[in-house]
Amino acid sequence: MKVLVVGSGGREHAICWKLAQSPRVTQLFCAPGNGGIAQTAQCVDVKAADVDGMVRWAKEHAMDFVVVAPDDPLALGMVDALEAAGIPAFGPRKNAAVIEASKAFSKELMKKYHIPTARYETFTDLDQALAYIEAQGAPIVVKADGLALGKGVVVAATVDEARTAAREMMADKKFGASGSTVVIEECMTGPEVTVLAFADGERVCAMPASQDHKRAYDGNRGPNTGGMGAISPPPQYTPEIAARCMDEIFLPTIRALKAEGRPFHGVIYFGLMLTPEGPKVVEYNARFGDPECQAVLSLLDSDLMDIFTACREGKLDSVDIRWRDQAACCLVLASGGYPLDYKKGCPISGLEEVGRSAMVFHAGTRLDESGGYLTNGGRVLGVTALGDTLEQAIGRAYAAAKPIAFTDMHFRRDIGRAF
Ligand code: AMP
Ligand code: GLY
Repeated sequence: MKVLVVGSGGREHAICWKLAQSPRVTQLFCAPGNGGIAQTAQCVDVKAADVDGMVRWAKEHAMDFVVVAPDDPLALGMVDALEAAGIPAFGPRKNAAVIEASKAFSKELMKKYHIPTARYETFTDLDQALAYIEAQGAPIVVKADGLALGKGVVVAATVDEARTAAREMMADKKFGASGSTVVIEECMTGPEVTVLAFADGERVCAMPASQDHKRAYDGNRGPNTGGMGAISPPPQYTPEIAARCMDEIFLPTIRALKAEGRPFHGVIYFGLMLTPEGPKVVEYNARFGDPECQAVLSLLDSDLMDIFTACREGKLDSVDIRWRDQAACCLVLASGGYPLDYKKGCPISGLEEVGRSAMVFHAGTRLDESGGYLTNGGRVLGVTALGDTLEQAIGRAYAAAKPIAFTDMHFRRDIGRAF
């Protein structure tokens, strides 16, 4: 099969790495890809969100299957467009991807189907939003409705902070049109975990749970990022909690989407908070998380191509999905200054000294003329290791990252130990 993966981050590198192991995949392409992905797949110069360009390229080059990994092309309906052109595609259609693209939609869905989540109200009028904040008091959470690169959420400790956030989103349009609708919700407490699950429209198969580290600095301080590291599985996610999540959250969500005429085929991301009252949904995403994907796929012992095909065809019950009985840790090496301003184009050294005890998934890298790697983004590399225990996996990831260096390299020292 000729397979194209859409995207250019560490997540897409992990997907390519795993697909390349499938005997069914004879040729692998990635659009646009990155320096590291180029070692596994042929990189194609089409932007991830260019729906027409991607369909055209996939048709011209007779792709047998396309995997759409990032949120933007999913929200834009790339899967619908590919399928309409006769190209089988993995990922939810636009009407199901809306669970990530619109927080107002996903909150409404959870309310209607009694799926546990924070209490909330939706506003399009600033004065009403301000009055609600006043009445509820703090702490309180203010969210822009649309996709805002993970930055449209303010967990406000005071009423003043919440009022400022609402004003910035609704009046000053800090996140553009994403902020014309805001969701204001109850502040939940407890450890956060991610559960990624394969879904075939009707069935759902949870992968081992994982945990992201969203803040830039140690001790969960500093600005929110795309994710500075991930572990799998997190110790807080016990088998009892997993069973409860399946009954109260995962199955009800997949059934709800089906009942609404929006069957979800793809990977669904459950962002959960394990609150004192039980697990509740913080957010849904319509795709693998990054860097959770790198940690979780490292544990997969089955053919990913078989699983992707089964999800698309509604036959998840026909595949045997096995996981290693191990733990994984993905440590992100980022550019100094990320998530704000950072340099690009810095030479990366030491990659050849990383032993076979870890996988290095590339995120923001590109190849230079002499075959070396240069930094090309905020998150640069995800050093991923397995272990028989979580401690061992964490130790191996940090040890493997030791020889790697580039100007102003920054990473957290407490991945797997911050919660
Ligand atoms: P989201 O983009 O919805 O995942 O929110 C980003 C982060 O904000 C989450 O990972 C949580 O840490 C935090 N957050 C979002 N909603 C809530 C809430 N209702 N209560 C407490 N923290 C929240
Ligand atoms: N790591 C969080 C996300 O991918 O949304």
